[in-house]
Amino acid sequence: MSETHVVILAAGKGTRMKSAVPKVLHPVAGAPMIDYVLEAARPLAPATITVVTGHRGDLVRERLAHRRGLRFVTQEPQLGTGHALRQTEPLFAGLAGTLVMLSGDVPLLTAATLARLADTHRSTGAAATVMTAVFENPFGYGRILRENGEIVGIVEERDATDAERRILEVNAGIYAFDLGPLFASLAGVAPANAQGEYYLPDLVGIYRQAGRVVSTVRVENAEEIRGINSRKELAEVSRIVRQQRTDALMAAGVTIEDPATTYVGPEVEIGHDTVLHPCVFLDGRTRIGSDCEIHANVRIVDSTLADGVTVLNFCVITGATVASGARIGPFTHLRPEADVREGAHVGNFVELKKTVLGAGSKANHLAYLGDATIGERVNIGAGTITCNYDGERKHRTVIEDGAFVGSDTTLVAPVTVGKGAYVAAGSAIVNDVPAGSLGIARGVQVNKEGWVEKKKVRKP
Ligand code: UD1
Ligand code: CA
Repeated sequence: MSETHVVILAAGKGTRMKSAVPKVLHPVAGAPMIDYVLEAARPLAPATITVVTGHRGDLVRERLAHRRGLRFVTQEPQLGTGHALRQTEPLFAGLAGTLVMLSGDVPLLTAATLARLADTHRSTGAAATVMTAVFENPFGYGRILRENGEIVGIVEERDATDAERRILEVNAGIYAFDLGPLFASLAGVAPANAQGEYYLPDLVGIYRQAGRVVSTVRVENAEEIRGINSRKELAEVSRIVRQQRTDALMAAGVTIEDPATTYVGPEVEIGHDTVLHPCVFLDGRTRIGSDCEIHANVRIVDSTLADGVTVLNFCVITGATVASGARIGPFTHLRPEADVREGAHVGNFVELKKTVLGAGSKANHLAYLGDATIGERVNIGAGTITCNYDGERKHRTVIEDGAFVGSDTTLVAPVTVGKGAYVAAGSAIVNDVPAGSLGIARGVQVNKEGWVEKKKVRKP
């Protein structure tokens, strides 16, 4: 069997995006659109994958640097899709086989459809196989011209006659080519069109005139080949991807009250019987266990929640770990390396950073707990602050099991509150509080009896 090579065109400026960022790097539901194309190509097990870059190609290469085995070719200047493919010619000198060409801006394409393209191409022995789809509104796409049912050419929207614009079958911009005649024929493509560009689809007409076989494969679900040329299309395609994800999660046993307002990133995992209320945003490497309840307007990124966790409204959780049975929120901010253990409670306007909050401990209101190790069954009173930063360095606060920290306490780190110790409300604790003792560090109250009456007398 002959080898398959994949080429992905990603050099275009994406003029209609009106962006300084190359189009193929714009995120579709959380991942750059070109990532989807690369994923779809993978099951073809291609011998090589080549990405043609141009406009801000440095950014594209940088973003794809972590993917092994990709080759890059530069197209400079960008003179059209035909010109783009030509730039890869030196890489294929003397090689036989199939070249599957994809567009970096067509992210919904499935691996199954690509396999169908490759199969048809092989079985028909075609010089080129064009993927097509029928759109109710084909505006903007190249139209497939047929004679007696056979494809004879492709005409772009701008170059089409009114009659041709009424054709509903469009070019997906995805092709399989026999490497044999490809590059010699591409040299015959001329920029004779409204845009003055070298159009790859012109190859179809060239092949037909040379008597070569050109096949087509029509995708059943036209949505799959939707290209992204504008921010509006970016949003529309993102919505489709998000819906695919929420559909899959619901099929796996997650309740999603309002899929339309639920955002779930590509790497997020969620266990069964977890409930997502409206306007929940989950992204990054986030894992959520079973039987959790995430209330409305919560954002969770790069965090791990075990089973049975409740997150009440309006929380922001990033880079944190939450153990089973914990209750977070409303209005809680868990920052990186916040580690909330079994059954702990973190309430409104409490911020945790690089802090362990031990099992069964509670910080229910208005606190900043940073760089702290807090034991089990500790009570953190409202208004407690760990003063972890001296202007130069960060220091740790340790609060041992069973301690009780009264409201409005400032703990000036480094400092330790021992096992079972109490800290009186309103204290500024600068020295360790030994286990089992009470630490008080505040001004002594003085009551001046009769003071109010005397004050009144002084007034004229
Ligand atoms: C292209 C097809 C059109 C098809 C549509 C499907 C051409 C001339 N037209 O139109 O028939 O219906 O795709 O989505 O091919 N690119 C380069 N270098 C360039 C120009 C473009 O690498 O010089 C890349 C772009 O980055 C993009 C892809 O090729 O990934 C398609 O280019 P685009 O300008 O979006 O073509 P369309 O107008 O959508
Ligand atoms: Ca396009």
